[in-house]
Amino acid sequence: MSKAMKIAIVDDEKDMRQSISQWLALSGFDTETFASAEEALKGLSTDYPGIVVSDIKMPGMDGMQFLRKLKGVDSSLPVIMITGHGDVPMAVEAMRIGAFDFLEKPFNPDRMTELAKKATQARRLTLDNRALRRELSDGSALIKKLIGNSAPMERLKEDILDLGQADGHVLIEGETGTGKTLVAHALHAVGARAAKKFVLVSCSAFDEDTLMRRVFGPAQDDEPIPAIEEARGGTLVLEDIEALSQVLQARLLTAINEQGAPAETRIVAICNLQEQDKTCESVLRPDLFYRLAALRITVPPLRTRGEDILTLFTRLSEQFAEEYGCDAPEVSAQEAAQLLQAPWPGNVRQLINVAERAVLQNRRGTGSIASLLMADTDDSKPAMTTEGKPLKEFVEAFERMLIDNTMRRHKGSIVAVMDELCLPRRTLNEKMAKYALQRSDYL
Ligand SMILES: Nc1ncnc2c1ncn2[C@@H]1O[C@H](COP(=O)(O)OP(=O)(O)OP(=O)(O)O)[C@@H](O)[C@H]1O
Ligand SMILES: [Mg+2]
Repeated sequence: MSKAMKIAIVDDEKDMRQSISQWLALSGFDTETFASAEEALKGLSTDYPGIVVSDIKMPGMDGMQFLRKLKGVDSSLPVIMITGHGDVPMAVEAMRIGAFDFLEKPFNPDRMTELAKKATQARRLTLDNRALRRELSDGSALIKKLIGNSAPMERLKEDILDLGQADGHVLIEGETGTGKTLVAHALHAVGARAAKKFVLVSCSAFDEDTLMRRVFGPAQDDEPIPAIEEARGGTLVLEDIEALSQVLQARLLTAINEQGAPAETRIVAICNLQEQDKTCESVLRPDLFYRLAALRITVPPLRTRGEDILTLFTRLSEQFAEEYGCDAPEVSAQEAAQLLQAPWPGNVRQLINVAERAVLQNRRGTGSIASLLMADTDDSKPAMTTEGKPLKEFVEAFERMLIDNTMRRHKGSIVAVMDELCLPRRTLNEKMAKYALQRSDYL
């Protein structure tokens, strides 16, 4: 047992609570005593690091009322009730309300210890799980910022959660504007280093000497402390790692080799290569590459994310519409197909741009989404990959967008959406489940 669990003992009889307390203290528990339920309630709150042992018969608030109150304070707090000898109905009632177990008077000390052990173990598990969930939900706030439920995006989110828990250095690869920097932030936020520093340096933003000082030092008077020290215990993100000179590559390798395992500073290298024939592997010296690429994440290009394109477009144009105080454009079936088929060489960043311009066009009442897409055409990139059935994919993506938009407009009113889309409830439910749309998100 790491830290001793507490046991709060509540009994109006002084001799009784003291003998229980002494016995449990001898068994290694950290006990505290209360002469009444009222008094105990003042000392017990959610996440109480222990359990409660309480008599049932007490003047003032009795054990049953106390138990009910405690369930309201923390429903999974284990409470062991002490009942009169042979008082079966009382014991049954206590269990029904949610007591962990009961002990009959006069109680057997060994049975008391055994029950206390079981209850504290259960309590520890509950508290650990709560802590874990809290940690996850903090970090996952960033993961939630990653819009999209397509298969490649779900895989990416799983990778982030998995690698966030791991300790090796990470290499993030992907085309421009796919969300690599956002992924690096999320990776830090979901892991054990979340409370420590996150330091980001772009390797293409400085000349060699400045970058050397910025990352490794020694810093001059007016300069911040070197990034590798600033990020100690946390994460150092090196963007545009492909721009690192040979000299700096050698210096980085030395720094990595000097660190123990697990590394003091986790290095997340982001590689941003546009040319098809060059890879991160081909531009970095091999020994450095293999150190950095211990763990790898590839952020998928937007054109492979199918329906996410429409989800992103809708969400982003709504955000811009709110910002500009006007309406978001309605997307026709034809426009949806155009969005889905565009090559998106600039990926999510390009889509943000298109969404903003579409909102401004809509406000002026001119232009089309197609014209916005034409302006950015780049024939060197293939259009949306159409593995399998392209028509089905388009239809599904469009269907998802329509339901999503309609739910949003009707603030989650199922009846209104059924009505507008002429869908029976069951079909609507099935489609929402299929597209991972949740009513609670629209309320
Ligand atoms: N899945 C997503 N959901 C919502 N916003 C996203 C998503 N992916 C990226 N973005 C947004 O798109 C923009 C570009 O993302 P980011 O800067 O992370 O891309 P990048 O791959 O690092 O780009 P670069 O190659 O230029 O460094 C940012 O504003 C980011 O917040
Ligand atoms: Mg970036």
